[in-house]
Amino acid sequence: MIILETERLLFRQHVMADIDDYCTMEMDPEVRRYVGGRPRTREEAEDRFMGTLVPATDRLAMWATIYKPENKYIGRCGVYPHFNTDGNPISGEGSLGLYIVSTHWGWGLATEAGQAFIQFGFKELKLNRIVTSIDTRNDASVRVINKLGFELISTETGPRSFYHFAIFNPLEDLDL
Ligand SMILES: CC(C)(COP(=O)(O)OP(=O)(O)OC[C@H]1O[C@@H](n2cnc3c(N)ncnc32)[C@H](O)[C@@H]1OP(=O)(O)O)[C@@H](O)C(=O)NCCC(=O)NCCS
Repeated sequence: MIILETERLLFRQHVMADIDDYCTMEMDPEVRRYVGGRPRTREEAEDRFMGTLVPATDRLAMWATIYKPENKYIGRCGVYPHFNTDGNPISGEGSLGLYIVSTHWGWGLATEAGQAFIQFGFKELKLNRIVTSIDTRNDASVRVINKLGFELISTETGPRSFYHFAIFNPLEDLDL
């Protein structure tokens, strides 16, 4: 099932045929540097693939991201549930996730995906707010999130430090 399309990207449910490309990405130290810190083993990646990606049962999820000019799996993107500290999803909110294979970095693909999912989250899913948390060392991700129009809400300092960003639904005002 295709959920969304942009000029260069197509977003669809993950299928078993994606597992090798998914695992290769999760085993790439460059991709994992600021999201987990260490590459996953093949076994860990497979477990995660089976446990969280197949099948997506809700539109609030991460989607296989296909680069249309090459008909190639190049990552996963989407707006997934924003959980509170008790582990319960916060109604009306979502978290933006963008993961692109390192061979395709710097092509504007995360920005293109992010723009599409912000529109999708606000217009289709009627979210009030989309959030994202980024390791403060992840300069490329911070750049993308700033380009997408997110605002910095808070900074969390610790063994790993994070910026917490949010963007609010501009369409909400129209309903008043
Ligand atoms: C972060 C990530 C999604 C960006 O994907 P991408 O497709 O390369 O992003 P884009 O090409 O749309 O934009 C990248 C921007 O960051 C800039 N950039 C890249 N490396 C940078 C760095 N080290 N410092 C500052 N800016 C940097 C690029 O120049 C570009 O900005 P520009 O358009 O103004 O030139 C990708 O690197 C990735 O998947 N990383 C691993 C997973 C991850 O960290 N995800 C984010 C957490 S959810």
